[in-house]
Amino acid sequence: MTLLKIARMGHPVLLKTAEAIADPTSRDVGRLLEDMVETMEDATGVGLAAPQVHEGKRVIIFKSPRERGEEGGLDTDFSPLTALINPEFEPLDDDIAMGWEGCLSIPGITGAVPRFSRIVYRGYAPSGEAVEREATNFHARVVQHEIDHLDGVLFPMRMSDLSLLSFNEELRAFMEHMTVELNPDETEKHGG
Ligand code: NI
Repeated sequence: MTLLKIARMGHPVLLKTAEAIADPTSRDVGRLLEDMVETMEDATGVGLAAPQVHEGKRVIIFKSPRERGEEGGLDTDFSPLTALINPEFEPLDDDIAMGWEGCLSIPGITGAVPRFSRIVYRGYAPSGEAVEREATNFHARVVQHEIDHLDGVLFPMRMSDLSLLSFNEELRAFMEHMTVELNPDETEKHGG
């Protein structure tokens, strides 16, 4: 396994549309996924898309850990570490929530991003098996963030209010004065 270099905002690879994978079970994909997992864990992120490691392929990994959810969170709020090839999603309804996001390609920065609260996503596991899951709240957010990377979209491009783009330290310091209602459980680095 190898630690991969993470592309930062401004690198053209982050703005390109990634290519679909013909064979999810191929050795190349398996090797890429192993390296992506190692790279994400090393950077303490909760999501990573292949274009972030200079591979223009439709491959993402993510997790939505229990500790991020509120007490009594829905099962669909959480996900173990998941690898998804050629992922897609659709919203289950029109409900949009604001939540804080960070990105390993935009280190030190956090922004409030509107996302669908409830989605269904589909793709392929590295075994070749088709995957379909419903996701809510943080789980839905991280999946939307990672799929955006496959279409050249970074989270600031989704923001509706750029005054909510902040350095992490400033956000932490001024959080108590903010009037916008946001889920405090999502203030930590999402790092997708
Ligand atoms: Ni990201």
